[in-house]
Amino acid sequence: MKTNDQLEPTVFVIFGGAGDLTWRKLVPALFDLSQDRSMPADFSIIAVDRVGLSDEKLCRRLHDGVNQFSRFGKARAAAWNQFAQHIHYQQGDFKKLQTYAALGSQCAKLEKEWGAKAHRVFYMATPPSMFGEIPKYLGRAGLTRDRDWSRIVVEKPIGYDLESARALNAILAANFEERQIFRIDHYLGKETVQNILAFRFANPLFEPIWNRRYVECVTITAVEAVGVEHRGGYYDHAGALRDMVQNHLMQLLCLVAMEPMVSFEADEIRNKKVDVLHAVRPIHKDAVHECVVRGQYGQGWVGGKKVPGYREEDGVSPDSQTETFVALKLFLDNWRWQGVPFYLRTGKRLARQASEISIQFRGVPHQSFPIESTLDWQSSRLVMSIQPDEGIVLRFQAKHPGAQMHLRSVEMQFNYLDAFDAPSPDAYETLLWDVMKNDATLFMRDDQVEAAWQLLMPVLDVWAAAPPSDFPNYAAGTWGPEDAQALLAPGHSWPLPTELAGKCKQPGKKS
Ligand code: BG6
Repeated sequence: MKTNDQLEPTVFVIFGGAGDLTWRKLVPALFDLSQDRSMPADFSIIAVDRVGLSDEKLCRRLHDGVNQFSRFGKARAAAWNQFAQHIHYQQGDFKKLQTYAALGSQCAKLEKEWGAKAHRVFYMATPPSMFGEIPKYLGRAGLTRDRDWSRIVVEKPIGYDLESARALNAILAANFEERQIFRIDHYLGKETVQNILAFRFANPLFEPIWNRRYVECVTITAVEAVGVEHRGGYYDHAGALRDMVQNHLMQLLCLVAMEPMVSFEADEIRNKKVDVLHAVRPIHKDAVHECVVRGQYGQGWVGGKKVPGYREEDGVSPDSQTETFVALKLFLDNWRWQGVPFYLRTGKRLARQASEISIQFRGVPHQSFPIESTLDWQSSRLVMSIQPDEGIVLRFQAKHPGAQMHLRSVEMQFNYLDAFDAPSPDAYETLLWDVMKNDATLFMRDDQVEAAWQLLMPVLDVWAAAPPSDFPNYAAGTWGPEDAQALLAPGHSWPLPTELAGKCKQPGKKS
């Protein structure tokens, strides 16, 4: 197997090692890193879980995951066999100290074998109910003592509300220093999301117009055509606001609205992002209905197939009041963005999958063209398309060929795959690599998580006190409830997702 001798030895301890995330995301990402020569020569993956499994059985399951989800397609036998030698299974109860003592011994044994000290990465790929437990046991077992060599990775959701997020952060802080804590929001690992910073701050072109003088409104969309799939039990307890808005959409908002950073230091970038959340105008409880819309899908048609309504999904209560769609209108009270609406929306079972940020620019200050020239005029827009198409589109006015001065909107496109001709790594590859390199830039800090919860608490409180009376209020396969239109100011619209010309070629996907 290809390894990287420059990287220091690392032990990945995955709690929930027999679970779905390990199978679908973590091990395929580690395998892909190994294929890219981005794993240390000495590394080990210790999968910890309660179920009785042998190394061999676990490896068979993980092999299947790699075959399905690796960016390189089906794994070659030799590559897999070599990689699999690094995987060990440890059966253990997450709430028993002996599990952690055994882990400590196993890590010590590996270090002895390698003749070197190893970084210990503790990854909580478990149900959220364990997030508050595992750090305590790690602390009690003395596994967090070496601050420079041990790290913990926490998956979202970080808490269920502000209070529980604070409680979880307090448990983490009692056992780890903040610099050892890596809170994952996988959106931040996406190439196109990281590219927002590159686009904004590596080019002098757009920054001068990236403000209230030139921007009419900003729309942030992260919608899916899929339903809740096999996660009905979790989702029915969470809903779209907790599942997508509190984390992924807030991250996109921060990246698009933040001030330029002074350096590329993790804390400098994270400070600038938190400033955005602090600038968001608080949503008053009395105004929740004016700036937030919720929805739930009923039966409908998606991709030519009839699909069940949310209440008929597995694991979902037949009279569930959980929202599967949210649209919000936010304002930022700062110099740059005063008065510019930021519209955010997310939902399941919509017409198609699309995540993108659209910046709609103001019209020209004086319209000098005759009215007949401008009948096909559309606002100038810059769209950063995150997925499934990956790229950037700039829409502007151009003269239509012909004797008359007739103006039409045209598009200039940048498409990732055309430009770079190489598939992007999966978000988890980037994030796991960063954990190994101890770089927290793409991870959420405690104050950011809490600021995002703080902002949304009035909405959650008002919704909890007044369950919706009209659910389901949109049919699967549409663009969500009609009320979402009412959030928009005159002249603003929810843009239809962009389709880039080379849309079939998505980086990271095998064609
Ligand atoms: C997860 C949510 O965080 O993000 C899911 O829990 C959602 O409900 C998923 O489907 C979307 O991520 P991606 O990368 O598939 O767009």
